[in-house]
Amino acid sequence: MELKGLILAGGAGTRLRPLTYSSAKQLVPVANKPVLFYGIEAMRDAGIRDITIVISPGQPGMEIRKRAGDGSQWGLKVGYVEQGEALGLAHAVLTGEEAIGESPFVVYLGDNLLRDGIQTMVEQFKSSQPEALILLQHVDDPRAFGVAELDGDRVVQLTEKPSEPRSDLALVGVYMFQPGIFDVCRSLEPSPRGEYEITEAIQALIDQGKRVEPHVVTGWWKDTGKWEDMLETNRLLLDAIEPQVDGELIDSRIEGRVSVGEGSTLERCQVRGPVAIGAGAVLKDAYIGPYSAIADGCQIERAEIENSIVLENSKITDLEHRLEGSLIGRNVVIGGQNSKPRAYRILVGDDSKIGIL
Ligand code: G1P
Repeated sequence: MELKGLILAGGAGTRLRPLTYSSAKQLVPVANKPVLFYGIEAMRDAGIRDITIVISPGQPGMEIRKRAGDGSQWGLKVGYVEQGEALGLAHAVLTGEEAIGESPFVVYLGDNLLRDGIQTMVEQFKSSQPEALILLQHVDDPRAFGVAELDGDRVVQLTEKPSEPRSDLALVGVYMFQPGIFDVCRSLEPSPRGEYEITEAIQALIDQGKRVEPHVVTGWWKDTGKWEDMLETNRLLLDAIEPQVDGELIDSRIEGRVSVGEGSTLERCQVRGPVAIGAGAVLKDAYIGPYSAIADGCQIERAEIENSIVLENSKITDLEHRLEGSLIGRNVVIGGQNSKPRAYRILVGDDSKIGIL
């Protein structure tokens, strides 16, 4: 039977505030593309054609609907269901029950990104047909994740964010299930943090003696729920961008992997890749250093930016010191003169204005 896709894109995104006051965390761009779109494309590349996105009610959910639309931009069918309350991942999976019906399906957390996509795991799931397939990766600090203990190729125990992890294998936010998972999700009690945990649902399958297969992911995997992770993911993606300059360069120098979108102009600028600059941006007397992603319509003059993400239509001018390691929202205005601090590390939301005097 055809596999369907369920992308979980609800949740409050508290760790990415203030950006998430006005936008969904899954729409924050990395290398100038919303995180969510990488997930949709990973599903498409694995042969999934029918995707349901679980969104939260209100503005962030509406924005996801608007940006991803009916899926025709990817040649896919995309539909939406609302998760009324953020009661955890197992609860979110249950809201997708009607859309999934009797199909086996892939659950993909909308803020997760895997370098090599999910095709291999989808093939493994299709051919061996376990009750569930989980993706794992060795990490330095497993306490921030669900953690798995294996006995050879068998999953023995899963624990959500343990303070004393019994292994370094973190649960990646992509899971494959047979429709039987819905009944298990319904039988759960809320966890100590008050959520219905998908980790506990999979543990319940193990306890029932069902076959849960692990797949250890070797290519990089990122959960972009925190801004340091956003920047890290941005770096990893920019390392692999296709250099292409569509905009206009006037007395400007470009080195390394750099992409510049249509209608952008760079005058007396130096850009040292890897860097992505969107469309319709205006840069003058600026230095854009490695691992920066500058979105469409930004204006940057007499400023230096490195290792940062700048969202649409922001304006950054006259900075005496380099802006680095920063995540700047949409329509932000940052202007400085005679500034004292030697570096800036800023997390500001959409429409913020910062004057450095
Ligand atoms: C969730 C899951 C966790 C998993 C992680 C992967 O955590 O609960 O088991 O390891 O996603 O991204 P969250 O990021 O929602 O806290």
